[in-house]
Amino acid sequence: MNINIQEISGDYSNIEGAVVLFALSTEDGYEFRPPAVQLDEKSNGALSKAANASEFKGKFGQMVELLAPSGVAASRILLVGIGTMEGFTALKAEQIGGKAIHKLMHSGEKNVTILIGVHAAHNAMGVRLRSYKFDKYYTTEKNVKKPSVETVTILTLESEAAKAEFSSLSKIADGVIMARNLVSEPGNVLYPESYAEQIKELEQLGVEIEVLDEDAMEEFGMESILGVGQGSSSETLMVIMKWMGSKDKNAQPLALVGKGVTFDTGGISLKPGAGMEDMKFDMGGSAAVVGAMKALAGRKAKANVIGIVGLVENMPSGTAQRPGDVVSSMSGQTIEVINTDAEGRLVLADCLWYCQDKYKPKFMIDLATLTGAMLVALGQDYAGIFSNDTDLCDQLTAAGQAVDEPVWRMPIGDGYDKLINSDIADMKNVGGRYAGSITAAQFLQRFVNETPWVHIDIAGTAWRQKPSDIAEKGATGYGVRLLDRLVKDNYED
Ligand code: BES
Ligand code: ZN
Ligand code: ZN
Repeated sequence: MNINIQEISGDYSNIEGAVVLFALSTEDGYEFRPPAVQLDEKSNGALSKAANASEFKGKFGQMVELLAPSGVAASRILLVGIGTMEGFTALKAEQIGGKAIHKLMHSGEKNVTILIGVHAAHNAMGVRLRSYKFDKYYTTEKNVKKPSVETVTILTLESEAAKAEFSSLSKIADGVIMARNLVSEPGNVLYPESYAEQIKELEQLGVEIEVLDEDAMEEFGMESILGVGQGSSSETLMVIMKWMGSKDKNAQPLALVGKGVTFDTGGISLKPGAGMEDMKFDMGGSAAVVGAMKALAGRKAKANVIGIVGLVENMPSGTAQRPGDVVSSMSGQTIEVINTDAEGRLVLADCLWYCQDKYKPKFMIDLATLTGAMLVALGQDYAGIFSNDTDLCDQLTAAGQAVDEPVWRMPIGDGYDKLINSDIADMKNVGGRYAGSITAAQFLQRFVNETPWVHIDIAGTAWRQKPSDIAEKGATGYGVRLLDRLVKDNYED
């Protein structure tokens, strides 16, 4: 689908295809925006007649569709309510773009023109994100149902500024879509080696890629991540991405770390069969990191950023790790593996330590589909954050609000930390029945020294069962926009 932005022109009656028009809600009904006023006149009042007949009030997201109104070239008009002008933010413009394209995508129309005065770039972003669907494995016409819309043109005021803004936003969308694609791929297609190959595509954008294989990780003493992959026939890999966009190439980098379990069976602590297929999404944290690196490099962010992902498959087999095994991590600390299904923290432990040790970053943010308990605590709207640094949490919270990928800070502390003490090693990898997301975070914190650090548990936000205004059901790409925005608002030259 082509999406382009052009300067608004005076006469809209010649526009063919589907035209999207807007109205505000007022105390006693609705108020058409100027393009809607004009087309209402040209169509002899057809628009207001339809609005009145359907009790249209201009409320946010309310829609009225008119087919083949006479007096105008458009074959279809979609009238959309946007609520009040003060409430019509950039985020709302995205949602409206998403709603409108979803309504028209399979309408039979090839061309859609949206007549919007403000926030045109965000409107375009909504169109882009909502029209994405992971349909590569459909082969029959019945399933494919290709969208009819080929081109979306957004007419706006100050189109030059809007175009510039969209060119940066669409790089971020590229990152979101890459993350969604990675998360949607099944485990037989996306496994550590094939995943690393896909990450290498970022080299085209100027990202440097380094891959540590099992031998290299053994040399570093990374038994913690290696133990997780021990039962799989796939090689465990750690991939390091470097985007050095700052003017000062020696400036201390920011670091993003992601859990990339390409499939989580639970290992010998096998998960129940029902719903296990969902565990292809267990690399969602790493996908957010890869997507964010793509976004940052794509828009040439002026910051030095390191991305590190631990790619591994958690399988039961004759060579798999046993419950009760003791492994030694790169940090030197030993871990009693009580439950092989609590593998994400074992992966991140070595990634975090390596990251801190090698790059001495300004901060580390890790993302992971880490605990089912996160879904119990916060559901699917907010991701939980756990941190040793309030300023970084505040920045992340603000970024989350700005891009509608919200986070909520959870507590950590000594009382929780005690719960993962082990009788025979420095720690155990599970902390008992209560506070499962917090004890997981405590485990991670034992691999972070003084570096400002945030752990984001995205178990609830990486995948949706129902579509939203800007995403089809399935992989959300959550985290890409959040991280990009954090960098943009606080850490660029
Ligand atoms: N990948 C899962 C977490 C998960 C579970 C995310 C369900 C989304 C939905 C993780 O590796 C895991 O299995 N965690 C266990 C930890 C437990 C054994 C302490 C969990 O949450 O049940
Ligand atoms: Zn698990
Ligand atoms: Zn897992």
